[in-house]
Amino acid sequence: MNFNPVELIIKKKTGKSLSFSELKYFIESYLNNKLPEYQMASLLMAINLQGMEIKEIQTLTEIYIESGKRIKFPSNYRTIDKHSTGGVGDKISIVLAPIIAACEGKIPMISGRGLGHTGGTLDKLESIPGFRTNLSEEQFRKLVDEIGFSIIGQSDELIPADRRIYALRGVTGTVDSLSLITASIMSKKIAEGAQNLVIDLKVGLGAFIKNIETANELADLLIKTGEKFGQRVSVIISNMNSPLGEYAGNALEIRECIEYLKGKNIPDIDLLTKTLASEMLLLSDITSNKIEAETMINNSIKNRTALDSFRKFVKAQGGNPEVCDDPSILPQAEYEIPIISDNEGWVESIDTQNIGYALIDIGAGRKALDSKLNYASGTYLPKKIGNHVRKGEQIGKVFCDEEECGKEVAKKILGSYKISNIEVKPQKLIIKVIRYNN
Ligand code: URA
Repeated sequence: MNFNPVELIIKKKTGKSLSFSELKYFIESYLNNKLPEYQMASLLMAINLQGMEIKEIQTLTEIYIESGKRIKFPSNYRTIDKHSTGGVGDKISIVLAPIIAACEGKIPMISGRGLGHTGGTLDKLESIPGFRTNLSEEQFRKLVDEIGFSIIGQSDELIPADRRIYALRGVTGTVDSLSLITASIMSKKIAEGAQNLVIDLKVGLGAFIKNIETANELADLLIKTGEKFGQRVSVIISNMNSPLGEYAGNALEIRECIEYLKGKNIPDIDLLTKTLASEMLLLSDITSNKIEAETMINNSIKNRTALDSFRKFVKAQGGNPEVCDDPSILPQAEYEIPIISDNEGWVESIDTQNIGYALIDIGAGRKALDSKLNYASGTYLPKKIGNHVRKGEQIGKVFCDEEECGKEVAKKILGSYKISNIEVKPQKLIIKVIRYNN
């Protein structure tokens, strides 16, 4: 059936629901290049401003899935995956997947690139020389079978609708729509064949979701959409008011992940990784005992079985596995610009979204669809909310290849820190656990 795209845009703009055939027509025409980017962008903005009903979101998810193949694994595989709604310095998937694989889980992970101010798992992995995220479905299945996990992107075979629309959202200011976030995440996670899913739903200044009420609303949409497609979904709501870990930037985060898998104590990465990993082992029935789950996870790091899984994964996806022993293989920035505190006191708040956008100026993220990334650039920011800083103290660094631009970014990052002269308490990282209970 043929529709007039302008009428459909106006229908959504005036708050009405679009039917299955209307949405399918619009998205199929876009994917077949019969409908221009500007009309798709316009519909996305209308959806962003008006929202969608749950049935409409489930329909959109189905259309995304049907735009490509849906992978199925044997039921004895107990496939489990994790997804994050996006943050700054969020590298958790890169350490979590090898840990779960070392605990006998199977993780078929379809992930995303940087979106808006947030970083993306695929971009981080592609900073490893040679690493490929565009494997065929067959190669993907083989790695899940043999290594326990694989991380790839949407492709012409797998959810092409999300691949195109996700990239367009990133450059059209339409990233924070609950409806679009739900369809984007759930289509990837259903099409990849995960029977169980744990979602890290981030809330705070560095997340798309800024308050707990909206986080609860999104959790409900994600769980109901999972249910409709027979997927068991648990949600962990976590705090994204500070960048996660100490580094943000693609290659810098890979180095940090390897250090963590070698046993370095990075408290926020450790707590979030272990909380998510334990939920994943319980949800996929690998164990029914929380203490046993925690022991398995700790052992995978202590015995370096998780690091071994990571090494095999890097090699199998075309990357140089020696990166695990020699991080200088990763792209290195030419300049390190210090960030010096001009105040004394306690860190009261960090405008983490502002930091994410500042990093785009030095190429750690994209400004346009065809922007080229600078994998080496990024920042080191060890101070968290509640930490004390002295005037003149170096509170971080910017890594960049263009000195003047790096200095501007250092200023923007410094301006993102609010320092109080009254002592500030650290914030809780894990805000709420919504466990699958059917
Ligand atoms: N992660 C996704 O995969 N999609 C979104 O829209 C947001 C976060």
